[in-house]
Amino acid sequence: MLIRIQDDAHPIVPSEITSESLYRGRRDFIRAAGLGGIAFAAPAAFGAAPFSSIQKSPFSTDEKPTPQNSIISYNNYYEFGTSKDDPARNVGRFKTRPWTVRVEGLCAKPRTFAIDDLLKLAPIEERIYRMRCVEGWSMVIPWNGFPLASLLKQVEPLGSAKFVEFTSAADRASMPGLALPVLDWPYTEGLRLDEAMHPLTLLALGLYGEELLAQNGAPLRLVVPWKYGFKGAKSLVRIRLTDKQPGTAWNKAAPNEYGFYSNVNPEVDHPRWSQASERRLGEFGKRKTLPFNGYAEQVAKLYAGMDLRKFY
Ligand code: MTE
Repeated sequence: MLIRIQDDAHPIVPSEITSESLYRGRRDFIRAAGLGGIAFAAPAAFGAAPFSSIQKSPFSTDEKPTPQNSIISYNNYYEFGTSKDDPARNVGRFKTRPWTVRVEGLCAKPRTFAIDDLLKLAPIEERIYRMRCVEGWSMVIPWNGFPLASLLKQVEPLGSAKFVEFTSAADRASMPGLALPVLDWPYTEGLRLDEAMHPLTLLALGLYGEELLAQNGAPLRLVVPWKYGFKGAKSLVRIRLTDKQPGTAWNKAAPNEYGFYSNVNPEVDHPRWSQASERRLGEFGKRKTLPFNGYAEQVAKLYAGMDLRKFY
């Protein structure tokens, strides 16, 4: 988003890369062999279907979802490199099992959740959301997950909790992008507690009915459809309830460009480009960007009385 780095600046060597065609080949093999249901050592790497049932959500848009192939090959995940195809190419060494996420801070019952228990925590929903990146492209993604509120309720937030901080994994051995000083690692993001508890705010475990691939934030990532995509911290290891507005990775890197609120607002330009329109992946031309990314009816009330030019 902020800094353009040449591909040849990457510290990764070819032998470290599991190519996309190689892992796609493996997935095709598993499907063709009818083995998708068997518990392989690293199910996330193979995109196995882990959900016993998926409930369709009334919060879904009826817009046509972006093809799965585009969603898994055009990514922002700077821990794996800054080009759009770096994440899919460079995730080969990243392990998403075993995995736990710690939910702590200002709550009565802090807890560490194992990812396989989270899969059972709530009915898994399909939420087809419009997603808008601050860079000006957008997608429609059929996420599988559950509301963040269901998880937060389990730990019983205290009355003093006002914000939630999200922390992504930062594993130098498997994330070549961490060698670059692009952001203050680990990647962190934050929401106000009422934003975090809003029914649209999702923890995603999958998309298109399959477990998330690493490039999309496996095994668990945040999805906030009315905000720019960078709010959606990937591969979460920690969720912390706090009474102070948390610092966020992009805000620390460029405070005048990336605010805490990050609501999709076509009237507030990024200092270096307009936010009035967007290019939907797979479409020619541009479409007008909608306030709150089309979710104004559900979320505008969260910001009543706030100057959204100041709180960008
Ligand atoms: N989370 C982490 N940990 N690291 C990142 O670089 N990029 C963000 C967000 N979450 C990012 C991240 C940005 S800028 C966007 S637009 C979305 O992830 C992209 O999500 P997608 O690749 O699944 O479409």
